[in-house]
Amino acid sequence: MDRLVICGKRPLAGTVQVSGAKNAALPCLAAALLTDEPCTLRRVPKVRDVATMCRLLATLGVSISSADDDAERRLEVTETTNCDAGYHLVRQMRASICVLGPLVAQRRKARVALPGGCQIGHRPIDIHLRGLAALGADIRTDRGDVVVEANTLHGAEISLAGPRGATVTGTCNVLAAACRAKGRSVLRHAAREPEVTDFISLLQKMGARISIDDGSTDRVLEVDGVDELSGFDHAVIGDRIEAATWAAIAAVSNGVVDITGFNPTDAVAVSNCLSQMGVDVEVSESGWRTQTVGQLKNCEIHAKPFPAIPTDCQAQLAAVLTQAVGVSVVKDFVFPERFGYLAELARLGADVERTDVSAIVRGPASLVGTEVLASDLRASAALVVAALAAAGETTIRRIYHLDRGYENLEGKLRALGASVRREADDYQF
Ligand code: EPZ
Repeated sequence: MDRLVICGKRPLAGTVQVSGAKNAALPCLAAALLTDEPCTLRRVPKVRDVATMCRLLATLGVSISSADDDAERRLEVTETTNCDAGYHLVRQMRASICVLGPLVAQRRKARVALPGGCQIGHRPIDIHLRGLAALGADIRTDRGDVVVEANTLHGAEISLAGPRGATVTGTCNVLAAACRAKGRSVLRHAAREPEVTDFISLLQKMGARISIDDGSTDRVLEVDGVDELSGFDHAVIGDRIEAATWAAIAAVSNGVVDITGFNPTDAVAVSNCLSQMGVDVEVSESGWRTQTVGQLKNCEIHAKPFPAIPTDCQAQLAAVLTQAVGVSVVKDFVFPERFGYLAELARLGADVERTDVSAIVRGPASLVGTEVLASDLRASAALVVAALAAAGETTIRRIYHLDRGYENLEGKLRALGASVRREADDYQF
């Protein structure tokens, strides 16, 4: 296990290029299960969750090789007998559920361990299962696994809406199965996140017949099932969540930082929020040029489904708000419990309070480095932001959480002038 040691209050400047989006790469890797032809996925981020997905796919008979630059994965199904995604991998990564739809679509059966809850809250898959059942699948649970079998799949009208908006991976799973069902399916309230749109474009390259109707508030997908899908050669979109994380890092570190490699239209709500805080965000085709001008200002953040501020960014923005003048409020309408990072921010000296539906952040707080514990991927990113704003050294332990979703974070930080080092850690739970 490793830890990061960060010395804060240093100006950062320069250019950072984000990697391919983890949350697009994961369903796109699973799409290799939909064909027996060779597939190539490019711009794959070198993060733990991708490695876990590749290990899972290998158990499902997919041979995977990396090109020399390692951002490219070549995948091909060589064996189709095992359709069981074991708990040992699913418990490491909830996104393992992304193999469910492709397995049902292509092999007509799947056994996937029910992904437990996690640090950010309850993670049900009822909408995934309801959609697959509507397409004709038989579903049962067996000793903590969900077992799905479908001799035939037929078109259906399906809603992908849940109590807190559409389901991202649920949209990918049900869509993958609908692409191989007989007849037309209509998927209403489909997720509109850019990572889902990227997955749809990959399926279309494979020969899937999908039309997108992005109405004012609802996305409707019309799918005409096909008998088979071809291989693909696809480059994953840039990671808008990583870009937002770098913008939060830049916001607390005086200096001009260029953040490139992503589509700024995928993160308009974030750039608008940063501007409201007093960060100067210059938008260009290749990304953002950010600079904090004067004192940061408080604001209210409501994390909601796309195109609102993503739930995956609220922790990082809350860390910035510890440095803003006044009282800020952060609400997460997708994962209302996703405030585990507040206690660690308080250890650094942040003035934060949890109410039943929000976080209250009062600033500006003088943060002082100390030892903190990473808890989940985006909470860990919030600790990096806070550590860069703190005086002295901060040690962040259990940073395997960060390694799940950020490629070479410390290398990119050092290139901007940050004082950061990774050390082996004998942390005992
Ligand atoms: C995806 O998770 C992302 N992960 C998450 O990013 C992200 O936070 C989340 O979408 C929301 O944007 C990947 O794409 C791999 P959901 P997912 O199904 O698909 C409820 C990160 O940090 N719901 O869209 O698992 C659910 O409880 C990760 O990179 C149901 O009620 O999330 C939640 O409140 C963390 N029933 C809401 O919907 C269901 O069947 C959104 O969940 C499914 C979900």
